[in-house]
Amino acid sequence: MREVTVRAAAKVNLHLGVGRPREDGFHPLETLFHAVGLYDDVTAAAADEWSLSLDGAPHIDPADVPLDESNIVDRAARLLGELHGVPARARMRIHKGIPVAGGMAGGSADAAAALVALDRLWNLHTSDADLLRLAAELGSDVPFALIGGNALGIGRGELVKPVDIDQVDPHHLVYWWVLVPSREGLSTPAVYRRFDELFPGAPERPAPARRAVAALNAGSPTALAVALHNDLEPAALDLRPDLVGVLDRGQAEGALRGVVSGSGPTCAFLCDSADEARAVASGMRGAGHDVVLVANGAVAGAHVVEYAG
Ligand code: C5P
Repeated sequence: MREVTVRAAAKVNLHLGVGRPREDGFHPLETLFHAVGLYDDVTAAAADEWSLSLDGAPHIDPADVPLDESNIVDRAARLLGELHGVPARARMRIHKGIPVAGGMAGGSADAAAALVALDRLWNLHTSDADLLRLAAELGSDVPFALIGGNALGIGRGELVKPVDIDQVDPHHLVYWWVLVPSREGLSTPAVYRRFDELFPGAPERPAPARRAVAALNAGSPTALAVALHNDLEPAALDLRPDLVGVLDRGQAEGALRGVVSGSGPTCAFLCDSADEARAVASGMRGAGHDVVLVANGAVAGAHVVEYAG
């Protein structure tokens, strides 16, 4: 094979229950992941050595992403190569659509896409179990980026299980979101540290996701809006008080509910329909936000979109 492109989606957490830190420093989570249609594409092409480059949609600043060996795509390639005893040689290109350091798992999407793309390019036939294991080693959100859809995450988020939706009304299986990223990202570890400072008595067991799962099963955006829950939101808002105004404004523009996405700072607004999402997006642009994105969910996990044999 000469070249393969794999696409992976962003996520929002419909529920993010966070418990007191474990002995390894990670926080126990119970989360309901929901993949939304903002994408990063990772292209792997045959080459004699390793190289990594990046471009992106107009709202992406390539300078925000390091391209050295700390890049998660670099780490993914080395892990996969080591598993099979093959040298990590490829010309890699990332095309970014997911906000950087935005709480939407953009780096995790790149890692998942790189694992799948390099598995194909190097003709490795890695088992799904091994892919998920490598993904978990790379980051807590990477296994979900592989599977996509709606999924429950436990452990530190890396143990994922797809949620089967009982509801059969297909109209309600699509949820519309308006995403408002920030120019300045937030560091995930910093948000977790602030969570620890704000909630020293956090329970050992994270809050269960059952209300959000029930709302998904009911197929009701209104019920889902009520059930949205993010234990990291107070910490993110404490670090970035300006986001309170963003959330209020989105709701005033007609969104059913606004929440901080994951560790933030992207604000995610659940809307009742595609038309309402477009209206909220236009209201947010009118309020001075130059980057406002509309996406729906749930969408698929990492998958091949282009292939040159
Ligand atoms: O797993 P990942 O690399 O995405 O985690 C980034 C950082 O976020 C960790 O180093 C840790 O500080 C924090 N984290 C955490 N508990 C989790 C997931 C992440 O404390 N469940």
